[in-house]
Amino acid sequence: MKSTRNTYISKTVSALKPSGIRRFFDLAAEMDNVISLGVGEPDFVTPWHIREAAIQSIEEGYTSYTPNAGIPELRQEISSYVKTRFQVEYSPSEIIVTLGASSAIDTAMRTIIDPGDEVIVVEPCFVSYSPTVTLAGGVPVTVQALKENDFKVLPEQIEAAITDKTIALMICFPNNPTGTLLNKKELEALAEIAKKHDLIVISDEIYAELTYDEEFTSMASIPGMRERTILVNGFSKAFAMTGWRLGYVCAPAEITSAMLKVHQYALMCASTMSQYAGVEALRNGKESVEKMVNSYRQRRNFIVNSFNEMGLSCHIPGGAFYAFPSIESTGLSSQEFAERLLKEKSVAVVPGDVFGESGEGHIRCSYATSMEELREAMKRIQEFVDAL
Ligand SMILES: Cc1ncc(COP(=O)(O)O)c(C=O)c1O
Repeated sequence: MKSTRNTYISKTVSALKPSGIRRFFDLAAEMDNVISLGVGEPDFVTPWHIREAAIQSIEEGYTSYTPNAGIPELRQEISSYVKTRFQVEYSPSEIIVTLGASSAIDTAMRTIIDPGDEVIVVEPCFVSYSPTVTLAGGVPVTVQALKENDFKVLPEQIEAAITDKTIALMICFPNNPTGTLLNKKELEALAEIAKKHDLIVISDEIYAELTYDEEFTSMASIPGMRERTILVNGFSKAFAMTGWRLGYVCAPAEITSAMLKVHQYALMCASTMSQYAGVEALRNGKESVEKMVNSYRQRRNFIVNSFNEMGLSCHIPGGAFYAFPSIESTGLSSQEFAERLLKEKSVAVVPGDVFGESGEGHIRCSYATSMEELREAMKRIQEFVDAL
């Protein structure tokens, strides 16, 4: 080891905190009879016709690398899907197939950030955003979407966080963990700020298919935004394909070619079989998605009503598959609540503070869980709250 350092690990990585979600999974894994509302993934198995397409690709011997950006059929399907579904046009050459939305976000950050650049990250949010900014040499500047605004970030909050070092804004609606969806007008207000201050917006739209009341609007479809948006999406949530590690990123040609350099050196290409499954998902998966969305809507209504009835106030999440009730009335911190609920009632939820400061006082409960388990979980949470 070099005498100038006493560890093999870089200072940047040493300073990164491990994901707060994992700690709860690990605790829950050691216990029996746990009902988990902790996991952020569909409880459905990938629809059979999609699995079959992957099996067929293996049978036909498609086992080699693909082009770095992905197979042409899939990029063409993504292009058509994004155009029809979200009203934004990208040619296949402006699309890169990635290893889930996760690698799309990481690649985007590494492509646009120079050392010291600031990226505004709207919290509460998925846990990877700030770490990927840091790992790319940037500085995450967090802005808190607040409970009193139903966790909708306000344009003036973004504007107040902008400095001469700010280059980008990272957003995600429908949101993990709050389920909050921004409507077109609200997105337009954020877009105005991005245009005024010449910011790139990285828009994580992985939950776009999972909305229950209002129509989803893509940030890239707002006039004047296509040229400054990096649109991230993927197959994990909509098609119940988390294990396939398949996502994509769309951006104007100049940004896509730059991202392709990062993607080709770091990742080469997404899994070949998964890409063939992705083609089938986009060509014929609409009906399966509708069925899953209807089922999530029913479960959302049940879980939100149950929380409100037991006195844990919960806004109605417009999308994704998370309820984010307030546990402030119990007097416990979100960590205490989650830890005690797990130990005393064997129900795993995620403490809200792991998603950002304004998540404190809340817990994230995934309702991508069977109705039977949800009913039992709600019964146990009610007992837990009553006994406090
Ligand atoms: C908001 C958000 N973005 C991205 C991801 C990662 O998705 P993928 O499986 O496509 O990498 C998740 C997973 O939970 C998420 O909630």
